[in-house]
Amino acid sequence: MHTHGPIAIMSAMQDELQAVLDELPDAKVHHVAGRDFWRAHWEGHVVIAVLSRIGKVAAATTATVLAQHFGVRAILFTGVAGGIGAHVKVGDMVVGTHFMQHDMDASPLFPRHVLPLYGMDRFAADTQLRDCLLRAAHATVLELGECIHADARAEFNLDDVHVHPGLIVSGDRFVSTTAEGRALQTELPDALAVDMECAAVAQVCHDFGLPFGAVRSVSDRADDAAHGDFTRFVDEVASHYSVNVMARTLQLLPHA
Ligand code: ADE
Repeated sequence: MHTHGPIAIMSAMQDELQAVLDELPDAKVHHVAGRDFWRAHWEGHVVIAVLSRIGKVAAATTATVLAQHFGVRAILFTGVAGGIGAHVKVGDMVVGTHFMQHDMDASPLFPRHVLPLYGMDRFAADTQLRDCLLRAAHATVLELGECIHADARAEFNLDDVHVHPGLIVSGDRFVSTTAEGRALQTELPDALAVDMECAAVAQVCHDFGLPFGAVRSVSDRADDAAHGDFTRFVDEVASHYSVNVMARTLQLLPHA
C-alpha cells in the first residue's frame, strides 16, 4: 500500500458512523456530489470519513469520489450486516475476505453472479487491510467491556462474540424474510453476511487499483426478525465496535 493519500472510512448510515465522527474533533467538511466528506487526523493518519449512503450505486459513487477527488490510498468500510452463515450470530463480526453481488444476474449472456467483462464473480479484500482488520477485531472482542456497556452486552448476548473471516455478499435489498435469507444461504453456501454496499465499493477499488477492506458487525440474521432491534444495536453495539476496530486498524497501518 502507498503511504501517501488519506485513508477513507466509510459507513452506509449516519448512526453507524457517528461514534467515529465523534473521535474526529478537527474534522473539516467538504461537500462533493451531494455528500459530506469529513477530512481529519486520527491515530497519526489523515482520514476521510464519509457516508456511502445505502445501496450499491450510491456506495459506488461515493467510492469513486474518494478515489478521483480525494486521492485516497485505501478504503475501509465499517458497518452492520445480516448474518447468513449458520454459525454467524448477532453481535459477531465478519471481516470480508471476498465480496460478491448476490443480485448480479446477466444470464444467459454470462453465468449467474459473474460480472460482465470482469470474468469473475467476486473481488478479494486487500490482504494487508484484511489482516489488520482481523487483528483489530479480535483485540476489540478481547476487551469488549471497554467499548460496550454492560446492559447492551447482556441485552444482545455478547458473552461469546466471534470474528469470522469470509465472503460478504451485497445486493440492493434489505433481507428481512426468513425465506429470502435461506434462499441466499442455499444459493451461496460460503457467504457469511449480507449487506447493501461492500461488493460495489470493492469493484470500484478494483477499477482504481485501491486496497479495500471491510468489517461488518452482525445486527440481525437476515430473517423475519431482521428489523427488530436494528437501531438500538447500531447505537449501542455496532457504532462502538466501529470506533474500536477502526482506531486499532489505523494503529497497525504504515504512517506516511
Ligand atoms: N444490513 C444489516 N442487515 C441487513 C440485512 N438483513 N440485509 C441487507 N443488509 C443488511
